[in-house]
Amino acid sequence: MKLGVIGVGHLAETILRGLLRAGLRPEDICLSPRGHGPQMAKEHGFLLADDNAAVVAASDLVLLAVRPGDAEEAVNGLPWRENQVLMSACAGVPTARLAGPSAPARVVRIMPITASELGASPTIVYPMDPAISPFLDAIGTTMALDTEEQFEAATVSAAIYGWAQDLIRTSAEWGASRGLDPALARQLAAQTFVAAGRIQSEQEAPMGDILASLCTPGGITAAGLERLEQEGIHPAWKGACELVLDMLSTKK
Ligand SMILES: NC(=O)c1ccc[n+]([C@@H]2O[C@H](COP(=O)([O-])OP(=O)(O)OC[C@H]3O[C@@H](n4cnc5c(N)ncnc54)[C@H](OP(=O)(O)O)[C@@H]3O)[C@@H](O)[C@H]2O)c1
Repeated sequence: MKLGVIGVGHLAETILRGLLRAGLRPEDICLSPRGHGPQMAKEHGFLLADDNAAVVAASDLVLLAVRPGDAEEAVNGLPWRENQVLMSACAGVPTARLAGPSAPARVVRIMPITASELGASPTIVYPMDPAISPFLDAIGTTMALDTEEQFEAATVSAAIYGWAQDLIRTSAEWGASRGLDPALARQLAAQTFVAAGRIQSEQEAPMGDILASLCTPGGITAAGLERLEQEGIHPAWKGACELVLDMLSTKK
């Protein structure tokens, strides 16, 4: 399976690093010549195409990772074939906008995050296509959505990934301000979020029960949660999710 990449920017670079980490061969991956393409080819041995048409001609599967506003133009007029898959990571760009310009290739939407570099991206996909499984498995775990509307709502998670990092940074900076070594405070905050995620991911008990088991009446977790609720954390968080979903939906 030959992979091509159109749009070798920040996201694509992390994906390419994840693919190398998973053992994919750089000579099976062909990059478009813009952005980080030339540098990544020089550093890691990826093939560098002369233009986007050469990327499509050389590939069975093509990752599109240009900015959303550039997506249609980037795929238009290229030599797409039957049995090819165009895998778009462009946030908020519906399949209907890419299907015409990339016919007769099949269009699949994915939303990886930069943890692809670590093989740790929870990547949503719509519609699922068996041809892309080996690629998505190499960068993390795959979560297939049943409808494009669900895919759009699930895309908000890519922004939550950044908000979680902001909470980790806030926690680490607070710890350092209270005398912790900054490097230790960073690791402590980050690993605490990893642990919280793993418990909710790997245990089967209802999410509320897992949380309730931490909240001893009169204890520190309960007291802090009560303060966060008084400050309106839940409506603020859900409001941010709605804002992002509105932004994604207006790109249609
Ligand atoms: N960043 C993330 O964490 C993340 C996460 C999930 C999804 N995404 C999605 O991934 C896409 C890329 O985001 P990004 O942050 O990686 O953006 P970026 O760093 O700006 O990368 C976009 C790249 O596309 C290249 N490009 C633009 N038009 C092109 C064309 N016609 N042919 C070939 N290359 C072209 C640009 O090259 P030049 O520099 O030459 O213009 C640039 O290198 C976006 O649609 C975004 O929604 C990003």
